[in-house]
Order: sequence, then C-alpha cells, then structure tokens
Amino acid sequence: MGSSDYSMPLGDSPDLCLVIPTPAERIQCLKSNALEWKGVLDSDQYIQRENHLMSQEMTKDGAMTCWVLVDRKLAPDNRPILSSCESFGKRALLAHDGKIEDITAHGVGSVFCRPEFRRRGYAGRMITELAKKLDTWQQENTVRKKGVFSVLYSDIGKTFYGERGWKAFPSSHFSLPSISKDKFRQGVSGVDLGLVRDMQADDVKRLMCSDVVMERYHQVLRDASRGSQKAKVGFLPDYAAMSWHWAREEFYAKILIPEKGEPKVKGACVESRKVFVSWNRNFGSTEKDNVLYILRTLYEEPKSPAEENAVVEAIAATLYRAQLEAYEWGKNRVEIWNPSPIVEKAVALLNPTAKVEHREKNSICSLKWNGKQLGLGEDVDWYWNEKFAWC
Ligand SMILES: CC(C)(COP(=O)(O)OP(=O)(O)OC[C@H]1O[C@@H](n2cnc3c(N)ncnc32)[C@H](O)[C@@H]1OP(=O)(O)O)[C@@H](O)C(=O)NCCC(=O)NCCS
Repeated sequence: MGSSDYSMPLGDSPDLCLVIPTPAERIQCLKSNALEWKGVLDSDQYIQRENHLMSQEMTKDGAMTCWVLVDRKLAPDNRPILSSCESFGKRALLAHDGKIEDITAHGVGSVFCRPEFRRRGYAGRMITELAKKLDTWQQENTVRKKGVFSVLYSDIGKTFYGERGWKAFPSSHFSLPSISKDKFRQGVSGVDLGLVRDMQADDVKRLMCSDVVMERYHQVLRDASRGSQKAKVGFLPDYAAMSWHWAREEFYAKILIPEKGEPKVKGACVESRKVFVSWNRNFGSTEKDNVLYILRTLYEEPKSPAEENAVVEAIAATLYRAQLEAYEWGKNRVEIWNPSPIVEKAVALLNPTAKVEHREKNSICSLKWNGKQLGLGEDVDWYWNEKFAWC
C-alpha cells in the first residue's frame, strides 16, 4: 500500500487497536527505534541485542511481549506501525493484611513513535490501550486472573504517563565516582576492603537468589503488611532479573572489548555480615551513560546500633569494591537507586559530601496500581524499588 493512498487516522479513532506485531513488523519497529536507542551499536547489532535479550530466562517463552498500535482495517505486514512498546511479565509479590501472594506483574518499556507520526496522540492511545490489555494479560494462571500492578521507567518526565495511570514513585540515586587502584591504596577510613569477596554469577545465585532468600522476601513483605493500611508490592530480585541485566553487559563487552573477556565479577559481599551487592555495567554512547549500576543491595535489618555500624561498614566496603570495578571497566561512576537510610549512611562513609539526586525527567519509576478496583485499598507501597527491577 502506498502511503499516499492512506490518510493517517486520528489518535482517538475507533479503528485503532493494540496487537502483537508479526515477526517482520517487530524487526521494522526495531529498525525505526534503533535511531533512538542503538547507542554505540550499528542497527544489525542492535537487532541482535534485542533478540538476545528476548531469549533470556526472564523474557523467553512469551514472557516478553511486543505491542504495536495499528489500524484494524489494514492487513498485517502491510500497515503503518503507529506506535510500539514491550511488556515483561515478571515474578512479583503482593502483601495485604498479613497475607502474601505470588503474582505476575508487568514492566513496560521501549515506548516509541516514529518521528514523522509524533504528536498525533498515537503513543498516548497505545498506552491507554495497553493499560486495559494488562488488566488480564498473562494472568490466566494466577489466583486473581487480574493484573494487580505494572511499572515503567519514564524518560519523558512524570506527566505523560501520570495522566494515564502510572504514578511517579521515588526516583533517586547516589553517584560515587570510579576509583583507580592507585587512589585505592590511600584507602578510606572506616572502610576495610579486606572484608569483601567478589561474587560471580553463581555466587549471586547462591547468596542472593536462593529459595531461602526468596522466602525471606515473602516474610518481609507479609510482616510489613500486618497492621498496615496500605498494600505492599515488589518485583522479586530473583536470578532471572539479575541475569537479564547481565545478558546485556555481556553482549556489549563481547562486541566492544572482546580482548577484555567477559565481565565476570557480578557483585561483592561481606558474607560474615550478610551484606550482598549485585551490579551490572552499562555501555553507553556518552560519558553520562557509562555507569556501573548497583542492581540490588541485600542485608538484614540491624537490631542494635552496633549491628547497624557493622552493616553500614560492610555495605560501604562492597560499594568501594564497586567503585574499583567501575574504573576497571571504564565507567565513570557507580549509581545506587533509591538508597535506604542504611545505604545512605554507607555512602556517607565513602563520600561525606555525596548528595542524593532526585530525577525529574529520566528513569522516573512509575507504577500503575489496580488494587483499588480489586478491593486492596487506594494506595500501595513499592518495595525493593532498585535498578534490578528496571526494564
Ligand atoms: C515519547 C513518544 C513516544 C511520544 O509519542 P507521540 O505519539 O508523539 O505521543 P502523543 O502524541 O500521544 O503525545 C504527545 C505528548 O507526549 C509528551 N511528550 C512527548 N515527548 C516528550 C518529552 N520528550 N518530554 C516530555 N513529554 C513528552 C507530551 O505531553 C506531548 O504532548 P505535547 O505534544 O502537547 O507536548 C515519542 O516522542 C518518541 O518515540 N520519543 C522517543 C522515544 C522516547 O523517548 N520514548 C519514551 C520512553 S519513556
């Protein structure tokens, strides 16, 4: 169909619908949005990256879905793609009134509209349709048969998604600079790197993602919901979530710096103090994107001031190790999302002048809560809102 035969529909046209693209249409979407997101990759490498990320534990067997907004009157493979995005069905927990449920919740990403189609309401319409779709999508095997919540990470501020139900949640981070080995020799008082052990993927699996740890997440959320007015939700920081991030860094490392080998160190821990930190490296096209992200900081809540000191020191030591790793991989800084008060104290040990940054435009953690309609209350607390949950 020649584009001159077709007049573009309005964003609120009843002819528009949200469907799953054909394989060829998916590639067409990737070729269009490569302009926005391929970064240092060429278009073919970008498509390879996306295929690689789609075949991970977290995304395979249909857990990840591509969506396109199209005109229902037109035939697949022969219709303009008006807007596109992806959804990721992930393991999550819901706790209310002291009860805990394993649920599937969705992350939404890669919201895109081709430059020549912009400002006609297509992305907005797509997101509105997606909200309806996610109410039941991939919920067949769950108890409620309904989606309880979904999240996305807005790079266009808080209004566009906020108006469509995805409310902005805390979106802050600390940055710590990368540190060279030379500087490291001078040390930081109160921080003992001798305590720290590196973790490879298997260690993270064993120490941060075991069944015992997953059970502890259930307990923490269940306990928090007892006597609380508000329901609590969170994505599980499981191995599937961690390894999806690592699939990305490993893809980049292989292409950009094959001589360096795989990035094997995936985190650090002070096992005796039950402090564990996992991370991944971002390979951006600009300096500001070259970051080592802390995916998850795991520790047990201290029960006394002495215990707290020990945990704070241990977290500081693992973050210091992260700063060295960042330097080693050419990253300019370490970023820790939504630090808890304990993590804040650890950061202060490393850098007393570090200031928490509240993001206003990029990576705004946004959550759509359907619990009100499901009798779970007006409002919700989002637990473990850290980088591992980003998609
Ligand atoms: C953001 C995007 C999907 C919007 O697509 P669209 O079809 O033009 O969206 P709509 O026509 O439904 O809505 C347009 C509204 O989106 C919002 N918007 C779009 N880009 C924005 C930006 N960079 N910052 C803040 N708001 C923005 C504005 O509210 C805008 O309304 P306005 O035209 O009155 O200012 C499109 O611009 C795009 O693909 N951008 C590049 C990729 C991207 O940033 N995606 C979002 C990732 S979270």
